[in-house]
Amino acid sequence: MSSDLAAVPRARIGILISGRGSNMVALADAVREERIPNAAMAIVISDKPDAAGLAKAKERGIETLVIERRGRKRAEHDREIVAALRSKDVDLVCLAGYMRMLSPEFIAAYRGRILNIHPSLLPAFPGLEAQRQALDHGVKTSGCTVHFVDETLDGGPVIAQRTVLICETDTVESLSARILTEEHKLYPEAVSAVLRQVAIKA
Ligand code: GRF
Repeated sequence: MSSDLAAVPRARIGILISGRGSNMVALADAVREERIPNAAMAIVISDKPDAAGLAKAKERGIETLVIERRGRKRAEHDREIVAALRSKDVDLVCLAGYMRMLSPEFIAAYRGRILNIHPSLLPAFPGLEAQRQALDHGVKTSGCTVHFVDETLDGGPVIAQRTVLICETDTVESLSARILTEEHKLYPEAVSAVLRQVAIKA
């Protein structure tokens, strides 16, 4: 594996989504505008056929694929996803609102090459409804985190964070919207930093 990413072909990014896909759009736009340099969008995969992000990817000319769980064991579902990512020569996997834990097999297949974005300042408030958890705890600051994915729930090494102040009048919706604005800036910056520092292309 070369340590000089600039000297190798474009790093191919695969994104997993389950829903709206606004972070996927932020990444795809950053790749197109070369704010994430030396990268290409390889595929967007959703586990939900009705994910709104699928249409947004297609509009941008990005190949999409739906791989539903269909009652299978997680490892079996993940095997199909990993096979699809490999068939597209994906170097870096970005989770963007993908609502499932990955199996140890998936993590082993792409160890150190899977990123996630989470709407809190991890390790605070992992798991679901992070913005509601922040409000319920009465913290004055929250934000978002991009981290490497390991076998723990939102517990892998942190790559980058951005803070958002919480106002007295905040609701889950208003706080989520302000955090999301920061997510859309942070995720492309973090992917770009990872691609600069890590030899992602085999
Ligand atoms: C974001 O808040 C992200 O941090 C979390 O799920 C949400 C996905 O939103 N993991 P979108 O699908 O990217 O719009």
